[in-house]
Amino acid sequence: MSGGARDERPLLMLDSGIGGLTVLREARVLMPERRFLYVVDDAAFPYGNWEEAALRERLVALFGELIAAHDPVACVVACNTASTLALDALRRAYPEMLFVGTVPAIKPAAERTRSGLVSVLATPGTVKRQYTRDLIEQWATKCEVRLVGSVNLAALAETYMRHGLVAEEAVHAEIAPCFVEKDGRRTDIVVLACTHYPFVVNRMRKMAPWPVDWLDPAEAIARRALAILPRIDGEGPVARDPDIAVFTSNRPDAVTRRLMQGFGLVA
Ligand code: DGL
Repeated sequence: MSGGARDERPLLMLDSGIGGLTVLREARVLMPERRFLYVVDDAAFPYGNWEEAALRERLVALFGELIAAHDPVACVVACNTASTLALDALRRAYPEMLFVGTVPAIKPAAERTRSGLVSVLATPGTVKRQYTRDLIEQWATKCEVRLVGSVNLAALAETYMRHGLVAEEAVHAEIAPCFVEKDGRRTDIVVLACTHYPFVVNRMRKMAPWPVDWLDPAEAIARRALAILPRIDGEGPVARDPDIAVFTSNRPDAVTRRLMQGFGLVA
């Protein structure tokens, strides 16, 4: 390890699975000098089906352990299901820590839609959240927003990334309720409000009954992290410790380890 005076504290990113990698890949482009620690809470996957109080409690305790063990410079909650539930509680519990959340991109969708019909595709947890309802209330009262809770899509994305296969009919069934026709208008934007979904967006595009914009907020989240992080001193490339992946199950299988290695993470 070298880097002298440079800030080597990692930027921590957490998701229940591979979804946060969609954010990590954007963050790497914007912050090539940063060291990343990617935390997979696979012992709790999928977050989407958890009861709210129990998941909030788990997240607050888990971040406490991770902050104590890894001293991150900031934490990106790279998961809508966790952010819409626990961001406030995390900020209250760890007031010294910077948290960047991932919440459904309802505001940009409302700004961009021409038909006024927007769908938000998310886990059942995110769809139920008051936080999500408040976003609609605050930014999208002029649109008709359909909330579509998908039970299986995050797991389908996990399988697809590991084995390159996805049941197209299953993807079709999950996305079908997003497509609304009303008074000659059609849904024109689908918000990808789960970080897993961009990995299967090509499949979704293929199965869609008509073309729509699939809104992936990963780059916006990475920009937000860049904006609030303290700058790293010095210029140019620096030798540094590798980025690592940590699993709460403590036992990722060989396929998962290879997948993480493909993203430049030591697992
Ligand atoms: N990637 C997570 C999100 O953004 C959810 C996946 C899960 O259900 O665990 O909501």
